[in-house]
Amino acid sequence: MARETTFLDDDDDDDDNRDNSDNFGNDQGDNDDLPLNRGDFDPNSREIDERLRPQSLSDVIGQSKVVERVRVMLDATKKRNDTLGHILFDGPPGIGKTTLATVIPRELGVDFQIAAGPSLDAPKDLLPYLTNAGHGSVLFIDEIHRLRPAVEEFLYPAMEDFRIDIALGEGLNARTINMQLKPFTVIGATTRAGMLTAPMRDRFVYREHLDFYEPDDLVEIVKRNAVKLKTSLTEEAAGEVARRSQGTPRKANNILLRTRDFATLRDPNGQITTAIAHHAMEMLEIDSLGLERQDRRYLETVVSVFQGGPAGLSAIAHSMSIPTDTLEDDIEPFLLRSGLIQRTPRGRIVTDRGYEHLGLDPGLSPFI
Ligand SMILES: Nc1ncnc2c1ncn2[C@@H]1O[C@H](COP(=O)(O)OP(=O)(O)OP(=O)(O)O)[C@@H](O)[C@H]1O
Ligand SMILES: [Mg+2]
Repeated sequence: MARETTFLDDDDDDDDNRDNSDNFGNDQGDNDDLPLNRGDFDPNSREIDERLRPQSLSDVIGQSKVVERVRVMLDATKKRNDTLGHILFDGPPGIGKTTLATVIPRELGVDFQIAAGPSLDAPKDLLPYLTNAGHGSVLFIDEIHRLRPAVEEFLYPAMEDFRIDIALGEGLNARTINMQLKPFTVIGATTRAGMLTAPMRDRFVYREHLDFYEPDDLVEIVKRNAVKLKTSLTEEAAGEVARRSQGTPRKANNILLRTRDFATLRDPNGQITTAIAHHAMEMLEIDSLGLERQDRRYLETVVSVFQGGPAGLSAIAHSMSIPTDTLEDDIEPFLLRSGLIQRTPRGRIVTDRGYEHLGLDPGLSPFI
């Protein structure tokens, strides 16, 4: 698979090298084969990400505790003229992991490379990244929980001692040569911290969890991005977009862009008025809690096919024809956080609140 190297000041710094392998055997990294993936109504999320991504730490809104700690790491590193310790960011999709990972090398003024975990098939695929890594530079590894074991093991000494062990020959002639690397920083990102092996996790000096955003922070993000997009919106419309974006900046950006389309067509000044924002939400089928069609379909499937649960993840995935990864990464986190579903040892359950949200009587299910 293609290797992607990006250096600072190179505009083309997208992290689009994702392998969308799933539990249905689709291991081709081919988006087209996948049923409705994240951002259900917007296939251009990646492009939008790049346009609206904050460029410096001061542009990063919300996550104040994390930002504060990152600021301390950066200032201390700069003051000591040192190499930054390895950092792991975990959290749901679209929450700012790549954003922070790209802002850090900019703040430090160091080179930056991007690799996608699933695209590294063998240690040799990682080798060029490691040998290219300049003194103090950052290597960002996205979806680090999906590194193959052999690649992960190859990375251990590189992270710990800035050394790689290359095996040559076989049998009696086998020998290992060591190669010294320049001190560098790995920034890992994962939507599944729990899937990371313990030795991998332990190699990160700093570990930061990014959680869903508060509505006020999302309002701020929406307003700032409206300015970047040269569009205007009312205070109430900004609140509406923020409220329906599942605590996730990427979703807020997507909704803002879609709402802007409606404003372009309906408002003489192209302004996103409150009425236009409401109309857009209806057209996009985003409900009062911010659930999209696919989220509601999840709830409806568990209720109608599995009598409200408990239902196993893969059974739900098969019923919906959606990869389990997509369910776990993109759909379930917000449903869980909103208390609409529960995860139990026996499977997923739609809660009373989930039933009520669908306009159903919880008493109808024999299992709740
Ligand atoms: N703290 C923030 N302040 C302002 N905008 C943000 C912030 N976090 C994220 N965004 C916006 O959301 C977009 C998506 O964020 P990002 O790409 O960093 O998510 P991610 O956590 O890497 O997601 P994935 O798991 O899908 O890779 C960014 O391009 C940016 O526009
Ligand atoms: Mg990312």
